[in-house]
Amino acid sequence: MDDRLVLMQGDLTKVAADALVNAANSSLLGGGGVDGAIHRAAGPELLAECRTLHGCPTGEARITGAYRLPARHVIHTVGPVWRGGHQGERGQLARCYRSVFELVERHALRSVAFPSISTGVYGFPISEAAPIALREIRAALAHQPQLERVTVVLFSAADLEVYRQALAAAGAPPSA
Ligand code: APR
Repeated sequence: MDDRLVLMQGDLTKVAADALVNAANSSLLGGGGVDGAIHRAAGPELLAECRTLHGCPTGEARITGAYRLPARHVIHTVGPVWRGGHQGERGQLARCYRSVFELVERHALRSVAFPSISTGVYGFPISEAAPIALREIRAALAHQPQLERVTVVLFSAADLEVYRQALAAAGAPPSA
């Protein structure tokens, strides 16, 4: 399996990559969870730039600078709120990853680090989200030769284990 796909436990704001992905809300004006951590670490200039974007619909993504973060860009995407799984949530989550990778390709970025989108405040079951995320990441790695590394940064050991199991189930040995 592609060793360009890395799973790790940690704080996304401490990971160096061309782009860090933010699990934002549609206002793009910050919040809790990883959104709050990214804005705290990036500093006030990030919010100032986000204000100029006038929001982002669910499933889409927007790119900004990264300011004090160890990255060149932040790619903000708005995941679906889980409402039981019968309102197109899975398709919307897949769209988030595809929207992010469209911007990665357009900006010829070589490395990107994701959190587990929608699996916190938005309540998307991580056992359902992990296979969707990994499927979209593997498709992007197959289609973007300039991509050298895609990292999924899980906040807890339990979340990392879910992703490791999902990767194994998809027929690939767990990565580092
Ligand atoms: N690094 C990596 N992962 C993190 C971090 C961090 N510093 N902080 C939280 N997480 C993890 C959570 O444990 C969860 O697994 O990110 C995942 C996504 O959780 P949330 O940040 O709550 O994002 P989401 O579920 O997509 O909800 C988005 O929450 O913070 C608000 O403004 C945000 O309204 C939006 C909503």
